[in-house]
Amino acid sequence: MLNLVFVEAALETVPESIQNHTAVVKNAERSGKKPVEVLLDRSLHHAAMKSLPKAEKRGRPDILHFCLLEALGSPLNMEGGLRIWVNTFGGYTISVSPKVRLPRDCNRFKGLMEQLFKFRRVPPESSEPLLTVEEMGLQELIKAMRPDKVIALSSHGKRVNLVDLCNSLKRVENPAAFIGAYPTGPFEEGTLSLVDEVFSIYPLSLEAWVVTSRLIYQFERKN
Ligand SMILES: C[S@@+](CC[C@H](N)C(=O)[O-])C[C@H]1O[C@@H](n2cnc3c(N)ncnc32)[C@H](O)[C@@H]1O
Repeated sequence: MLNLVFVEAALETVPESIQNHTAVVKNAERSGKKPVEVLLDRSLHHAAMKSLPKAEKRGRPDILHFCLLEALGSPLNMEGGLRIWVNTFGGYTISVSPKVRLPRDCNRFKGLMEQLFKFRRVPPESSEPLLTVEEMGLQELIKAMRPDKVIALSSHGKRVNLVDLCNSLKRVENPAAFIGAYPTGPFEEGTLSLVDEVFSIYPLSLEAWVVTSRLIYQFERKN
């Protein structure tokens, strides 16, 4: 079983410091929601985001959407070999049921994530929710997952052959792999301090969903 953790995910509701910005207020009004209930999205809130710290890594829910579709639709997930987690930029952890069927449309996905942040579970009344979110840092998540090896994938890591890397992960009982679900920049020091090793699978920076599909495909291969 592979624990796949999308880390520093660029998924959060609009932070308090920009909730009164015109770009945020207008967009929230249009969707009939309060600014606090809306997901931060660079394509809508570009002007407001200029004042945010680490703005270049934030406000890209579409990246996580692609990554989750890749992972959830994989044979590895269908066969029960994948456990998916998301740790967000703002310090929330989302637990993703292997059974969840996410909307293919990004706006609908964003609506679902807004519902998740509001009610902390989806479906809100379910005793067996498909998605839950709680305030939980990466360190706490690792404690809960109890992996016996934690690796991160990054273009800044040690170059490896993906086949060799996956073969070595398969030899471990409960491995965890981190992929950054954000647009640009290196991992935070806090993230790197929690991993055993950092590996690069290609000399250039790839999109997170490409790395996701390659890792899963190679991990599920029998030889
Ligand atoms: C767009 S990248 C973020 C930018 C970062 N500079 C990078 O290349 O790792 C999104 C994520 O994809 C993964 N990734 C991108 N290129 C990679 C590579 N060559 N090898 C391994 N992982 C990579 C990393 O997990 C990264 O956090």
